[in-house]
Amino acid sequence: MGNLQKALSQDVYKKLYVKALEARKNAYAPFSGFKVGAALLTDDGSIYTGVNIENSSYGATICAERTAFVKAISEGHRGFKALAVTAGSDQEALPCGICRQFMYEFSPKMEVVTGTDTEHLNVRTLEELLPLGFRLEK
Ligand code: THU
Repeated sequence: MGNLQKALSQDVYKKLYVKALEARKNAYAPFSGFKVGAALLTDDGSIYTGVNIENSSYGATICAERTAFVKAISEGHRGFKALAVTAGSDQEALPCGICRQFMYEFSPKMEVVTGTDTEHLNVRTLEELLPLGFRLEK
């Protein structure tokens, strides 16, 4: 993990990553075979998990990150501290552009945890992943 100052402890990042790995077992990815899991930490300390859910109409697919967000938002959460995402040990999964925009709406300063295992995690802010992101004033 990089040595920049991070908002949360290594233990929290690891815990979130493990939750994402566990969730990944439920991914529905019969078309790509690329299973993804995510775990989202809310401002009040709750954790919501998500998986990618593919569809015969490919464009209807939803990514793991947005699944976790949709679950949390629909339960009333609006602020988020961190999200871990994993595609297992083969490849680091970085959130796609649509997910970056989706998440930016709520918490531009949240952290995104990626990596191939708990000993090799990368922690970046969403603002690093989506510089100069778009958001309407509310
Ligand atoms: N996918 C995710 O769930 N999250 C990512 O960060 C990247 C892509 C999914 C969408 C699709 O089901 C599969 O991975 C291949 O693109």
